[in-house]
Amino acid sequence: AGPTAVSTGQLPGAAAVEGLVRAAWERYAPVTDGKVADYIPVLAAARPDWFGLCVAAVDGTLHAAGEADRAFSIQSISKPFVFALVCQALGGGRARECIGVNATGLPFNSVMAIELNRDRTMNPMVNAGAIATTSLVPGRTHAEKWRFLLEGLSRFAGRDLAMDAAVYASEAATNQRNQGIARLLQGYGRMYCDPDEATDLYTRQCAVNVTARDLAVMGATLADGGVNPVTRDRVLDADRCQRVLAVMATAGLYEQSGDWLYEVGLPGKSGVAGGLVTIAPGKGGLGTFSPPLDEAGNSVRGQLATRFLSEQLGLNLF
Ligand code: DON
Repeated sequence: AGPTAVSTGQLPGAAAVEGLVRAAWERYAPVTDGKVADYIPVLAAARPDWFGLCVAAVDGTLHAAGEADRAFSIQSISKPFVFALVCQALGGGRARECIGVNATGLPFNSVMAIELNRDRTMNPMVNAGAIATTSLVPGRTHAEKWRFLLEGLSRFAGRDLAMDAAVYASEAATNQRNQGIARLLQGYGRMYCDPDEATDLYTRQCAVNVTARDLAVMGATLADGGVNPVTRDRVLDADRCQRVLAVMATAGLYEQSGDWLYEVGLPGKSGVAGGLVTIAPGKGGLGTFSPPLDEAGNSVRGQLATRFLSEQLGLNLF
């Protein structure tokens, strides 16, 4: 189906959005493509038929279908929100100097991307840039830094989030590659606290449980210039919010970010547990959950449902 509207004004009325969210679920629930992630052992237990979606409008209205309340680990979708918190603390200019904002065009856990980039800065949406981002989290102790992360992510969601201890343990036992990335960055002067501490905090932030509904609210907070549309809490200043959307557009779906922008025309961010968040600036946030992933690590059903909703709701920014 082609676009039914151009990107102006607000979302269509609540009944229309509700109907389209349901239609997206029905249309893509039968899809069987993709593979559930298993490189973090505990994630392999996810069922491939789980599928939930939610749209949150900037007026705080929510529309959900399927398993929008099933908890899963946020994984890489923590990256834009932690970047947002660090930007808020440091300012967008300093964050760019320390972390970098350019696309790598390479897989999310690429070591070569660090080697190929002359100044060793990395986009905060890939692991190297994300671990560098986490190493900038303010706090005197590990516990203080972790509290900053968990409280900050919770403010985006508008409720108290918690870490999934089993996911954390599973990834902490198998994240040697991320430990290596953190040490390599340290060697290049691009790690801003102890590399093991940064990797541990990053592993914890990835293990925070969310639902598709949470992702929609978190996305709507970025769509609303940094104000959570449900709690009305200002989590982020508007100028920082713009920077976050820019890095998401650049690398939110890794090496497929160009294809994503070409088709969907919105900033998004995926996670290996099957989550996907997409932001329609000024309008709302879309959260989807479906564990089977494509080769780049992006949820297959999530991408299809989001593309459908972007077209039908006229969200494409271009
Ligand atoms: O660093 C990792 O490998 C995971 N904690 C997160 C990766 C991820 O979600 C990549 N996404 N699609």
